[in-house]
Amino acid sequence: MTADLFSDQMESQVMLADGAYWLRSFALPQADAVCAMLIEHLKNYPPQQMMTPMGYSMSVRTTSFGEFGWVSSKQGYGYAVKNSFTNESWPPIPESFFDLAQRAANQAGYVNFKPDTCLINVYEIGDKMGLHQDKDEADFSQPIVSVSLGLPVTFQFGGLTRTAKTLKVPLSHGDVVVWGADSRLCFHGVLPLKAGTHGTLGQRRINLTFRKAGKM
Ligand code: SIN
Ligand code: FE2
Repeated sequence: MTADLFSDQMESQVMLADGAYWLRSFALPQADAVCAMLIEHLKNYPPQQMMTPMGYSMSVRTTSFGEFGWVSSKQGYGYAVKNSFTNESWPPIPESFFDLAQRAANQAGYVNFKPDTCLINVYEIGDKMGLHQDKDEADFSQPIVSVSLGLPVTFQFGGLTRTAKTLKVPLSHGDVVVWGADSRLCFHGVLPLKAGTHGTLGQRRINLTFRKAGKM
């Protein structure tokens, strides 16, 4: 990423690629309320460390809200209507979260976004996520809305091939990244979470990823 991109600290919306936007501080007004709800929620729905199809355990811990929840196991990646750890449906996406995701999508030019899943990724110090594409959804016409909470992290945003150059985006509490259309299948990932303590979430970063997983 070029230094120019960061020279204007007042800039709140940065285009990362065609159809991909970094909405700096977009969720900040709601972020503390969202965190308070998440802290309570995670007590009853502890996030789990999933296995990758290759048999490695992922470093982040995850759980979901919505009609579908993202799951990974030796059988592969995908969406399930039940949480296999509780054998129950996933709890519905809280209205205020849905509203936040829809407003962020609108801000990036994606009207009428109706996510049916919200993945909660909990990162502890050192946790990371390798470069990947989000391609388990039935329909790629809908964008991805990703909300960053807690400790800052470096988000990598690349191109349509794994080897394409990546931008290094320093995400802070309340930042949102939205990507869709020409960038819907761009590779992205997260560098290891650096040590620190966040006022609301402590030694953690939580990422919420809103997607439309089922058919339109
Ligand atoms: C993801 O790609 O699922 C998570 C991205 C992030 O944690 O920012
Ligand atoms: Fe992803």
